[in-house]
Amino acid sequence: MALNFSAFGVLPAGLAVTPTPFTLNVPNRDVHNLYSLVDSAYIAAPKYYNIHAYAPNGTFGVSRDWLIDSQKYWIDDFDWREEEAQQNKYPQWRLNVTAPSDGQVYDLHFAGLFSKKADAIPVTFLHGWPGSWLEFVGVLDLLAAKYTPETLPYHVVVPSIPDYCLSTRVEESETELDMDQASEALNELMIALGFDAYVAQGGDVGSFLAQTMCGNHDECKAYHLNMYFLTETQKESVANANLTITPAEEAILQGATAWASTGSAYANEHGTRPSTISLVLNTNPLAMLAWMGEKFIEWSDNVNATPLSLKTILNTVSLYWFTDTYVRAMWSYRVLTSIVGGTLPTMPTSFTKPFGYSAFPVEIASLPRTWAEHLFPNMVFYNAHAQGGHFAALQEPAAFLEDIEEFLEIVRPNVTSSSP
Ligand SMILES: *[C@@H]1O[C@H](CO)[C@@H](O)[C@H](O)[C@H]1NC(C)=O
Ligand SMILES: *[C@@H]1O[C@H](CO)[C@@H](O)[C@H](O)[C@H]1NC(C)=O
Ligand SMILES: *[C@@H]1O[C@H](CO)[C@@H](O)[C@H](O)[C@H]1NC(C)=O
Ligand SMILES: *[C@@H]1O[C@H](CO)[C@@H](O)[C@H](O)[C@H]1NC(C)=O
Repeated sequence: MALNFSAFGVLPAGLAVTPTPFTLNVPNRDVHNLYSLVDSAYIAAPKYYNIHAYAPNGTFGVSRDWLIDSQKYWIDDFDWREEEAQQNKYPQWRLNVTAPSDGQVYDLHFAGLFSKKADAIPVTFLHGWPGSWLEFVGVLDLLAAKYTPETLPYHVVVPSIPDYCLSTRVEESETELDMDQASEALNELMIALGFDAYVAQGGDVGSFLAQTMCGNHDECKAYHLNMYFLTETQKESVANANLTITPAEEAILQGATAWASTGSAYANEHGTRPSTISLVLNTNPLAMLAWMGEKFIEWSDNVNATPLSLKTILNTVSLYWFTDTYVRAMWSYRVLTSIVGGTLPTMPTSFTKPFGYSAFPVEIASLPRTWAEHLFPNMVFYNAHAQGGHFAALQEPAAFLEDIEEFLEIVRPNVTSSSP
C-alpha cells in the first residue's frame, strides 16, 4: 500500500507566517549537465595506490574500480527524475526566518509530518556532512506507515541545515556562518511553526547544532544525539574516574582513534581551505562522489548491517551538486576544525535539560555508557546497538526510530507542560 504522505502535510493552524510548499524540480539543463560531466569525467590510470585501495577497508581511500563502476551506474542506472519524484512524495516547504540577534535572513527548506493530536511533541532531526535531509526519509516512511495524522504522537520537522543543499541565506555570500547563528535560525524555524517547546535530535554536524539549540534556546526542551565528541575537560574527568567500558565500546573507541589519526584530513581541509576544496569538488560530480562516497562507506557498518546502496549515496551527492552546496556548507568546519589536533570548541551543551544518547558501533566519536552516566547528570536515555553506523537513521531507521520514540515518551512531560 502506498503511504499517504500528503495527509501529514497539514501545517499547524494559525501560523503567523505561511511556509511556501516546495517541490524539487531541477532544471533540465542542470540534469543534462550532470550526466554529461559524469560521462566525460577522466579517471586516473591504474597505479599502486588506486588499485590497492578499496572502500570497505579504505586504507588508501576509494579505489579506481569503485569509481569506474559508480560512473557506469550513475549513467546507466540512476534516474534522477525518478529519485526526484520519490523525494517529492514527502511534504516539504520553504520559509524565510530572520535571526533576532543579527537580522540575517535564512531561506530554509524543510520536510515535515504534522500531527492533529493536541499533545503531539515537536521534534526536529538534524543531519550533517556528507548527509542531507534525505538521511531521515526511512524514518519518515516508518512513521507514515505506523501512524495516521490523527494518531502521530509527534510533529516531525526535517530541515536542510543552514547553507546545506536546499537551505540558503538571502545574503549568503556576505558573511561566514557559525554554529550559534545556524542554531538560532533553526530555533526560529521551530518557533515560526508554532512550537515554543520542542526536542532536537542530531548526529554529525547535527549533533553540534542540537546541543547548541538546546544550550542557547529556552524553546528546546530536550536533546538526543547519536554522536558526541568529548571536550578536553570531559576527557580528563573520564580518565580520572577510572570507568569500566565493555569490549564492544573499546572497539568503537579504537575506531574513533583511527578516525582522528587517519580519517579526519577532510575536516581539516574543509575548515582551513574551504575555497580550494569546494572549487575542486565543483569541477565534476564524480569528484564529489569520490570525496563524499569515501565517508558514506567508511562510516557505515558494512559488516553487520546492510551497506548503504550506491543509489542512496548518489541521491545526496546529486543534491549537493544541483544546489551548489560546497561553496556554502564548509562553515561548520571553520568552527569545528580544531577537532583535528584534539581540541574542540566548547559547545553551550545543557547539563540540566533531559539528554538521550544512542550509540551505534561504527562511529567517528564515542560515548560509552559509563562515560555518559558520569558526564551527563541529565541523561534520561542511553542505548547501545550491536549494528549500525554514523548514518544511523539512514542505515538502521527502525532501530533509530525505536530509540527516538522511547526518548520522546520519557521527555514528554518536559515538552508538553510548557506548551499552550
Ligand atoms: C586493508 O587492506 C590492506 C590491503 O589488503 C591490508 O594490507 C590492511 O591490513 C587492511 N587494513 C585493515 C585495517 O584491515
Ligand atoms: C525569501 O526572501 C527572498 C528575498 O526577499 C525571496 O527571494 C524568497 O522568495 C523568499 N523565500 C520565501 C520562501 O518566501
Ligand atoms: C580502577 O578500577 C579497577 C576495576 O574496577 C580497580 O581494580 C582499580 O583499583 C581502580 N584504580 C584506581 C586507581 O582507582
Ligand atoms: C523534566 O520532567 C521531569 C518529570 O516531570 C522533572 O522532574 C524534571 O525536572 C524536568 N526537567 C527539566 C529540565 O525541566
